[in-house]
This record gives sequence, C-alpha cells and structure tokens, in this order.
Amino acid sequence: MKILVLTGSPRKNGNSNTLADFFIRGAEEAGHEVIRFDAASSDVHPCIACNSCGMNGPCVFHDDFETVREHIISAELVAFATPMYYFGISAQLKAVIDRFYAINGKIHIPKKAVLLMTYANNSHRNEAPILTHYEVLLEYLGWQDAGRVIAPGVWPAGAIDDTPFPGQAYRLGRNV
Ligand SMILES: Cc1cc2nc3c(=O)[nH]c(=O)nc-3n(C[C@H](O)[C@H](O)[C@H](O)COP(=O)(O)O)c2cc1C
Repeated sequence: MKILVLTGSPRKNGNSNTLADFFIRGAEEAGHEVIRFDAASSDVHPCIACNSCGMNGPCVFHDDFETVREHIISAELVAFATPMYYFGISAQLKAVIDRFYAINGKIHIPKKAVLLMTYANNSHRNEAPILTHYEVLLEYLGWQDAGRVIAPGVWPAGAIDDTPFPGQAYRLGRNV
C-alpha cells in the first residue's frame, strides 16, 4: 500500500514527529511504501480562495505543495501527524489540508487515514475539536479511519519517549 505521512510540527525531534517516525517504521517493516511530507519545513502558501484551480486544477502558487500534490491523490492511506495548537491542528498542517482545494475533484475516492496527535494537557475534552475535524474531513472525502494515536500529557520535545504512545504508533503502522 502507498502511504503518505503529513506532519505538522516545526519541532524536528518533537512528540508528533516521534509518533510519525514510529508509525513509518512499522509501516515500512510491514512492506508498505511510505512517503513523508513535513509541512513545517516546507513552503506551502495558505489557500487564498482565488478559485483559479476550480477545485480541480493548477494552483496559482508554485511552491512545495507541488511535490506532494500527486502523492495525496495516489496514496491509499494518508496519515496526519500534528501537535495540538490552541485546541486545533497546527497551522502548518492546516495550510496543506486547505490546499486540498485544488485537487478536491480528485480525492473523493476511497482511502484510509490515520491521526497521530500530541498535546500537553490531560483533559480528553480538549481533544474534541481535532477529533471532530478529522472525522468530518474523512466523512466529506469518503475516507475511512484506520486508527489513531492520541497522546496527552506531553509538552517538551522528547516527553513522549517514555510513554506507551510510540509503541502504539509502531503497531498501528505494522497493522494498517
Ligand atoms: C503554539 C502552541 C499552542 C499549543 N496549544 C496547546 C493546547 O491548546 N493544548 C495543549 O494541551 N497543548 C498545547 N500546546 C502544547 C503542544 O501541543 C505539545 O507540546 C505537543 O506535544 C507538541 O508537539 P510537538 O512536540 O510534535 O511539536 C501548544 C504548543 C504550542 C507551541
């Protein structure tokens, strides 16, 4: 299976990137082809709603989205790895998702999806906006949830290392 991992944290050794690393290791060991796109170290301009693409065509911005565009279309599974930023996904990842607009006409096809998310607090209620966003996005696109790893209580980079969550991400990658 072709898997695309979209990450959203600017912390290279941060917690959500650790989840992405473990997920990728598991998926590759299971024989999947994995492509990774790190939104935070890429140049992806936010959508400006010019509608030049007509929701199914070239974008006016010639930036790093061009390198991931075809992979989003052809991936059989898309994994989203993000820190929680003010109860939402990171702006860096959201900019990539908003650029789905230009390929909207090509991605309403069955795919699997995975959510890897980390946050500092311990209140499960705080997870609701991201979980709802993920669920409604998948419903809209016709994609199927293949699993989630949600890691509360991790603030500094590296805090996730001594938790069970990297192992969960590895096993999810092995079993998708
Ligand atoms: C701009 C910003 C906003 C944040 N907002 C929240 C939040 O709303 N709730 C929370 O529990 N943690 C919040 N955090 C903490 C991060 O979610 C937490 O440290 C997470 O593990 C970071 O993931 P990373 O290491 O992959 O970057 C925030 C951190 C930053 C930098």
